[in-house]
This record gives sequence, structure tokens and C-alpha cells, in this order.
Amino acid sequence: LSIIDTANTIDYSNGEIKGESLINATKYLKELPNIFEDQQSFENTDPNKIIYEVQAFLPVKEGLEGGLFFGKTIIYPGKIGDEYFMTKGHFHEKPDRGEFYWGIQGEGILLLMDKNRNTWAEKMYPGSLHYINGHIAHRTINIGESILSFGACWPSDAGHNYQEIMDNGFSARLKEIKGKPQLIPVR
Ligand code: PA5
Ligand code: NI
Repeated sequence: LSIIDTANTIDYSNGEIKGESLINATKYLKELPNIFEDQQSFENTDPNKIIYEVQAFLPVKEGLEGGLFFGKTIIYPGKIGDEYFMTKGHFHEKPDRGEFYWGIQGEGILLLMDKNRNTWAEKMYPGSLHYINGHIAHRTINIGESILSFGACWPSDAGHNYQEIMDNGFSARLKEIKGKPQLIPVR
């Protein structure tokens, strides 16, 4: 019998995961067309600007039923026009697979939308905890002046369906109006 140290760790100060079976993804502005409304500002911003980075601990095969994945996202502070830097956003491929998010650093908004395109939002801050029902699309937005980081845990067979959001977006946009974030319905 032996007691092992897996050496898989999380840094609670910033959510950084260390260990094995990790993947890292960097999302540049050029990979995010059709996300921001202001096309002019999109074109006037460096296409190689990093908008967000995802780290994920994938201890089992993608698609395995019953397994879990664990991740961390950081979104840099910034805006394109009057919209803050945000993730692409997605539904899960298997719509009955939920997810937990929790705020680690910074100030953000979790934008949520159901199949009928009803949209609402939750505040994210260090320690905020969010249960995302599997049927609900989710996108995160950094409304602060520093990095927003948050953790996530989701089933290994949930999958990501980006198409619907790519095609139709969310039914509301979060804009900075008179220095404050406001949800604006999309016409
Ligand atoms: O699984 C999740 O919901 C998160 O890990 C997201 O994938 C991550 O925050 C990046 O967002 P998106 O996948 O919408 O680009
Ligand atoms: Ni998800």
C-alpha cells in the first residue's frame, strides 16, 4: 500500500492548474469574428490581441460518460467598441449536461440564455458560485479593469455546441453605457 502525491494542483489565488493531462488554448481576436457588434472597432484592433485563455484538466477521454473535466478561463480586460472582452459562448452538445462555474479573480458577468432565447445574467466575483443548467447557453464577460478568472467543472461527455451562438448570438448584448455595464436587448 502506498500513498501517492498526484502533483495535480490548483493555485487558489489565480485558478492555475498544474499537473498532467492539461490542455491550453489561447483565443485571439482574429478567431472571434461575429462576437462583437462594432465591426469598425473589431477591424481597428490588433487581430493578434489575446482576448482569453482556457486551461483544462482532462483526466479522461472527451465523450466518456460519467467522467468530469475541470478548467480555468482568464479573460483579459478590454473592450471592442462598447462591448467588453468575452468568451464565444456555447450550448452543450448534450443538453442535459450541466456545469459549475466559480469566480476566482476580477469582476464579470455570466450571460445565460435558454432555448427560447430568454437571456439573463449573474454577477461573477471572487467566490461567486454558478450552477449552469445543461439546457442553458453560457458566455462570460470581463467588466473589470483587471483579469477575470473563473473555474469550471463539467461532464466529459457534455461537448461544446458553438454553432447556434455563432449564427444567432445571444438575445442581449452587455454594453458599457455611461461607464456602467448594461444588458441591451438585440433587435
Ligand atoms: O466548459 C466551459 O463552459 C468553459 O470551460 C468554456 O469552454 C471556457 O470558459 C471558454 O468559453 P467558450 O468555450 O465559450 O469559448
Ligand atoms: Ni460549458
